[in-house]
Amino acid sequence: MNDPLKAEPLKIGVAGLGTVGAGVIKILKERAGFLADASGRTLVLGGVSARDRAKDRGIDIRDVRWFDDAREMAKADDLDVIVELIGGSEGVAREVVELALAHGKHVVTANKALIAHHGLALGRLAEEKGVSLNYEAAVAGGIPIIKALREGLAANEITSVVGILNGTCNYILTEMEKTGRDFTEVLADAQALGYAEADPSFDVGGIDAAHKLAILASLAFGVQIDFGGVHIEGIERVTATDISFAREFGYRIKLLGVARKTEAGIEQRVHPALVPDTVPLANVMGVFNAVAVEGDRVGQVVLEGRGAGEGPTASAVLSDLIDIARGFIVPPFIVPTARLAPSRESPADTHLGRYFLSLAAADRAGSMAAITRALADEGVSIERMIQRGAEKGATDRLPVVFITHETQEGTMQRALAQLMQHQDVAGTPLMLRVEGETR
Ligand code: HSE
Repeated sequence: MNDPLKAEPLKIGVAGLGTVGAGVIKILKERAGFLADASGRTLVLGGVSARDRAKDRGIDIRDVRWFDDAREMAKADDLDVIVELIGGSEGVAREVVELALAHGKHVVTANKALIAHHGLALGRLAEEKGVSLNYEAAVAGGIPIIKALREGLAANEITSVVGILNGTCNYILTEMEKTGRDFTEVLADAQALGYAEADPSFDVGGIDAAHKLAILASLAFGVQIDFGGVHIEGIERVTATDISFAREFGYRIKLLGVARKTEAGIEQRVHPALVPDTVPLANVMGVFNAVAVEGDRVGQVVLEGRGAGEGPTASAVLSDLIDIARGFIVPPFIVPTARLAPSRESPADTHLGRYFLSLAAADRAGSMAAITRALADEGVSIERMIQRGAEKGATDRLPVVFITHETQEGTMQRALAQLMQHQDVAGTPLMLRVEGETR
């Protein structure tokens, strides 16, 4: 075996010194000996760049070369790898990654927005230059799902990937279930605890999960990333009452990312969904993430873990760095970018499944008959329903929920449009898909 101390060290530049950057630098220092043994060479911090040099980050970087401009670091001759932890799909983060690749440096990034929007072009550039573009930390934090798809499960034809990909939403939905509190109140807690993205609409609106899903779909199905093809709904309209109704039916409400290969093409959806409480994803609580992959040979594989935070994200960054140090370079998106097929979008209205409908019905004789008639007229068959007494402050309306038999999405959308105009329905009903049932 090579003596790591005699091999050329791998010189690393870290752009962005937030919690994750500091976490990466701590591991590089605290586990230096083990990392060298595992990689066959030492991993050396050769440069850092951030906005504020004076800030105390709990790490000693006095002897490390400082760059005021991360773009200069991306061009520095004496660095082999740039770790991009700046974030955002455009601006400095994108420039740093492009420059580093163009200068023949490997790139490790935690930037899901950048990969979701520009992954294909960046992957091409990395291949041209014969370097790695690694992004394990971009999806589901510490869960090694990129490696699982790109390596461990690569022999399989993957039929679906379903995940809880946003810890903030999972925390909010878990707290709403536990405490019966409203969405806005619980969101404020999540922000105070530092879970939410700078712009919380990226979390609660499903965009963050959609970035991650688009990346997973590309790896799972060997297609070009198609972020624009993800159907996105957030969790803003889910109420604590909906969650408690779902519990009565034996389900939990989760923000899911669903990527599925169908005969009509590839389905990519992010939305809150009812998941039977008997399946693993329903029992992933709080800030945890999880991903369930179906492969034709392996069957189902479920991975669960922490999707964000210093330790889990830095752990993922380090796994990418170790691969590079070992000289393990793979096509960024499982097959060479030239072999990635365009992602053919499956039409949403052909999706077949069961649906949960939650609405406020007028409290008058015949209103329920009129509402169920409207559903029947569109061909929607009800499997179960619950009606409760009036909630405080709304004595003229009653909360009602239905679970339908299997119906096509197009039919449900037409039924929903009817209910929105119905004289016995107050406000806008909420329609959620039921996912994860074995048929
Ligand atoms: N805001 C993200 C989440 C962080 O809540 O999962 C990790 O991408």
